[in-house]
Amino acid sequence: MNLVNLFIDDQQVSVPAGTLVVDAAKSVGITIPVFCYHPKLKPVGMCRMCLVEIGTPAIDRATGQPVLDESGQQKIVWNLKLQTACTTPVSEGMQVRTAAQSDAVKAAQREVLELLLTSHPLDCPICDKGGECPLQNLTMAYGPGKTRFEFLDKQLLDKHVPLGDLIWLDRERCIQCARCVRFQDEIAGDHVLGFSERGRKLEIITFSAPPFNSHFSGNTTDICPVGALTTVDFHFRARPWELTNIPSLCPHCAVGCNLTLSTRRSAKRGGGWEILRVMPRQNEQVNEIWICDKGRFGHGHTHSPQRLTQPLVRWGESLQPISWDAALAVVSEKLRLESGKTVALVGDCLPNEDVYLLGKLLRQGFKSDWMQMYPCVGGAQVARQYGVATGTNLGRLDPANSVVLIVGADLKEEAPVWNLRLRSIPKFQVSSFRPKNSTQPAQVTCLQCREGTETHVVLGLLNVTLNVILERHQASDRNLVSGLAELEAKLAEFTPARVSELTGVPPEAIVSTARALAAAGNTIFAFGTVGAPESLPQHLANLAVLTGHVGRPNNGLLPVWPHANTQGVLDQITTLGFQTPDFGFEPSTLYIAGADPVGDGAELPPSAFVICQELFATETARKADVVLPAVSWAERDGTFTNAERRVQRFYKALPSLGQAQPDWQIMQRVARKLGLDWNYATSEEIMVELAATMPGYAQATYARLAQVAPQWPPVGYDDLYFGGTVYDNRDGLGVQLSAGCESAERYELRWVEPQVAPIKARPLYRRGTLVEKSERLKAHLVDR
Ligand code: SF4
Ligand code: SF4
Ligand code: FES
Repeated sequence: MNLVNLFIDDQQVSVPAGTLVVDAAKSVGITIPVFCYHPKLKPVGMCRMCLVEIGTPAIDRATGQPVLDESGQQKIVWNLKLQTACTTPVSEGMQVRTAAQSDAVKAAQREVLELLLTSHPLDCPICDKGGECPLQNLTMAYGPGKTRFEFLDKQLLDKHVPLGDLIWLDRERCIQCARCVRFQDEIAGDHVLGFSERGRKLEIITFSAPPFNSHFSGNTTDICPVGALTTVDFHFRARPWELTNIPSLCPHCAVGCNLTLSTRRSAKRGGGWEILRVMPRQNEQVNEIWICDKGRFGHGHTHSPQRLTQPLVRWGESLQPISWDAALAVVSEKLRLESGKTVALVGDCLPNEDVYLLGKLLRQGFKSDWMQMYPCVGGAQVARQYGVATGTNLGRLDPANSVVLIVGADLKEEAPVWNLRLRSIPKFQVSSFRPKNSTQPAQVTCLQCREGTETHVVLGLLNVTLNVILERHQASDRNLVSGLAELEAKLAEFTPARVSELTGVPPEAIVSTARALAAAGNTIFAFGTVGAPESLPQHLANLAVLTGHVGRPNNGLLPVWPHANTQGVLDQITTLGFQTPDFGFEPSTLYIAGADPVGDGAELPPSAFVICQELFATETARKADVVLPAVSWAERDGTFTNAERRVQRFYKALPSLGQAQPDWQIMQRVARKLGLDWNYATSEEIMVELAATMPGYAQATYARLAQVAPQWPPVGYDDLYFGGTVYDNRDGLGVQLSAGCESAERYELRWVEPQVAPIKARPLYRRGTLVEKSERLKAHLVDR
């Protein structure tokens, strides 16, 4: 790395070439105040808050040599005018003076703040940003005590202007830094905000239909350095210092975004605690400092009046409230009589600890091995073996050297924050539908195929890879893999011409895509999982192996699982050897935890006794014989494993509602009724046992998951650099489990007969048990 040496306030600094002065200063703990600058956005130099004095070494034009002063030191030429530290890159020998050393800088900062405040009413006592506002903080630290200006014109601008249905704009508070516009353009890729008018009339507007049409609108309220943009759920609800902030994870998709739940006592929960807002928590490996609007606004289920707060048992046609003891007596009596033919159906939002205990209950209590995940998706073993390797960082891929192959998935809808992080990477999209991608700065090549034929397109790519590309490889490469001969024989018929007939994708597109994948330095293979045939992940793994894109960071398979803990549930079901009941198997008892198959149109076995652990009276719960009320993820602690196999902790933020209990505690109560001597006091104790039992999970102890390390850029409300953006991460970055192939001596190629199966991308706001209880998202919901 080419390092540049400079001095900032006489302190020597060495940073990579190209670093901006403002970041160089921050890297050694010197804060230069900013408004429009944000380390994740391109600098624009709009606000002038970051002015500094800059000098550079004098060079003799005739000789090209440095000019020395009388004492033999290199002479520095100081620029006559102050310069913006956020747009000036460092140079060798540069000298910088900040406000700590320069009266001119101090005076400039005072004047810039005085001018900025002419675009701002003194709303602090009622503004939602008050207490965590960069403008407030910087005015206190650097500003003048009074103003020389009249600015009534600004104070009369509109308040509470809806920018879409999730974000309010207070026009008179906007200091015109364009952070919101730049976030939408540069990071989200949704060009929906802009400036209108000129001069003192300049204002933020949305020009999309519907207004502010973006899955990421909430992030603009985080990076707005004043209270001009606020979310509708938090508007006038609380002051930041009243909040208790709890680290958490998003329960909605397989990305595993890190969150902070801001809670406070509230009348809504009968004087109990309620989530007032959800903010991102920095994890540069997972979500950086961004979350999507589903993660931010989709928490209404935690305080919904429809929550189950008491056990229910069937009494004729209806379910009637009953005490916990009586409900457990019914369950244990039934299970004692019917052991051996019990099937457990586990939802993929259930935390790892609960899945583990359900499996243990199934084996020890019910003497059964039948456990199945709902929804039913395949490919877990292949994904664990050839998934993205440890050290992968989707936000740090090099666009010049990396590509993403997306098969049967729509990342923007199914894993929005991945789409955002991979936005600048060239992509090949194989699917029967056209994805709703944002405007991409990178090239997206669409290989649109006939419905259900995605796997056949992959076979075409494999055929080209084997017959055209691998020809050039050394024979020794072939010793690193097994199963090559069979694969070659089977693939012979899947020529680009034949695959084109089957799928409708032009043969030349198949050839050029295969070549691009093989030539790329790094390739990520993302694939849709709901409805996908088992053969798809296996053939993607074959392709990843043959093109050399496995077993090293930034390469491998990326399953677009439907929910937050699909990976964790499948890890346990497949690794611990649970059996999937054969088609037609008639269970005597169905034990369902956190799944609603009836809501998706499935039917329950007519003669089975159904026990259901749920938050709501879902359609499945309404058909059950016993319903045991469970708490939401916010009312307990636990872990999820995201699709990159990162195990992460979330923490209890709210007390339980009514008599509802964490799923693992309900299972423990059932086990005790069956005579098992279980005494888990915390979910951590379960994780200790899980980690000792499950290969690969040994590293996932609660203490290890809670470890943190310094992250760049530094964030936090007490940080005047670009404060107000996001919560820093003090409670754990999680642990990424290694992919099986990272320690394998040979990679295994396998032939699996391809099936035609329609893969459907699931829209982000697909109606579901959790999200449909969130008032703010109701207008966005689409049917299942
Ligand atoms: Fe900046 Fe906020 Fe105004 Fe957008 S609304 S330009 S982020 S002050
Ligand atoms: Fe939640 Fe997924 Fe959105 Fe992240 S991308 S906030 S995990 S729904
Ligand atoms: Fe540098 Fe705005 S001009 S922070």
